[in-house]
Amino acid sequence: KNEYDYLIVGSGLFGSVFAYEATKAGKKCLVIDKREHIGGNVYCENIEGINVHKYGAHIFHTNDKSLWNYVNQFVEFNNFTNSPMSLSKGKLYNLPFNMNTFNQLWGTKTPHEAKAKIDEQVAIYGVENPKNLEEQALSLVGKDIYDHFIKEYTEKQWGRKASELPAFIIKRLPVRFTFDNNYFNDIYQGIPIGGYNKLIEGMLEGIEVITKTDYFSDRNKFNKLSNKIVYSGKIDEYFDYKLGILEYRSLHFENEILETDNFQGNAVVNYNDANYDFTRIIEHKHFEFGKQNKTVITKEYPQEWNPGREAFYPINDVKNQSLFDEYKKLSLEEKNLIFGGRLSEYKYYDMHQVIALALTRSKKELENG
Ligand code: FDA
Repeated sequence: KNEYDYLIVGSGLFGSVFAYEATKAGKKCLVIDKREHIGGNVYCENIEGINVHKYGAHIFHTNDKSLWNYVNQFVEFNNFTNSPMSLSKGKLYNLPFNMNTFNQLWGTKTPHEAKAKIDEQVAIYGVENPKNLEEQALSLVGKDIYDHFIKEYTEKQWGRKASELPAFIIKRLPVRFTFDNNYFNDIYQGIPIGGYNKLIEGMLEGIEVITKTDYFSDRNKFNKLSNKIVYSGKIDEYFDYKLGILEYRSLHFENEILETDNFQGNAVVNYNDANYDFTRIIEHKHFEFGKQNKTVITKEYPQEWNPGREAFYPINDVKNQSLFDEYKKLSLEEKNLIFGGRLSEYKYYDMHQVIALALTRSKKELENG
């Protein structure tokens, strides 16, 4: 018998939820992570007493009451509501697209006026069968919204012209005919009081964790330590990239500490225009209604990805998706191995989705074994 029931590769939400559930069921777990900290992409770094979202702004939201209760057993959440602003052509607008945005853009005052304006724009600029992102967006919301909020932002995000991007990237562009700046439609929303590290620490309390340890530095040794492996790293890396490399889009973050208590008055401000290389500025203290004397802001720059950079967004086009499907087939042949999480499923998941997934997987696993 091996020393551990489960070796869990990755201390992000997937690995941490799995470890918590398995430990609760009486199993012995060892969690390893190659980074110098736990938490994966929800990790926060404390700078000037402010929780800085090191891998991008994270706002927790869900419609699932049991999942909300689940996370609240580890940490309480505040009532932060995500209401991003967008700076476009020198003017600030409310997001997501709602009656405030339309008023700021066109001066429309009633839902009837705003609807008529959008219908008119779509009738003039829309196309029958949109062949690229630009045509798709014009067909959904017309030229004014596209020019102010979508074109340049999207081109920075993907590093390509909107007319050269596939239409499927934008499936819908929700517009609201109420004066409601709440970005998410979910019932439950907030930020862990004291930061995301509290959530992860709560899950991993009493569980053995080793950071700065890469599974691939000695996989034979790690395999012998446990009966089963729960793997939340990259699926192509697990198979030594033998079928090819799955591609991602990356981000680069630049932090600044400023000698002011309030830089932009909001947690998230999008910078639409092309003359700014970054897509948004995050002012972290506002996630927790911070009262510190200083502030920390982060400029977010989209970046080409290469295997030396952080993998943020999977490129789920036909080429990469079919490569993933091949890896997926290989993974099903592996014994005593459980794959899960955003990197091993090559999929963008929100936090609540990854937690739900880890709960389902661990339940299935622990009921059988
Ligand atoms: P995650 O990447 O967190 O964890 C995997 C861990 O495995 C990492 O710690 C890694 O170091 C480790 N690992 C990998 N290979 C290893 C190896 N060989 N050996 C050891 N360790 C290894 N969601 C949401 O609900 N609201 C939001 O606002 C946002 N915002 C957001 C912004 C940005 C920019 C991104 C990219 C994503 C979001 N998300 C989000 C999504 C959220 O980040 C995501 O759902 C979870 O972090 C996924 O958790 P995982 O455990 O799957 O991966």
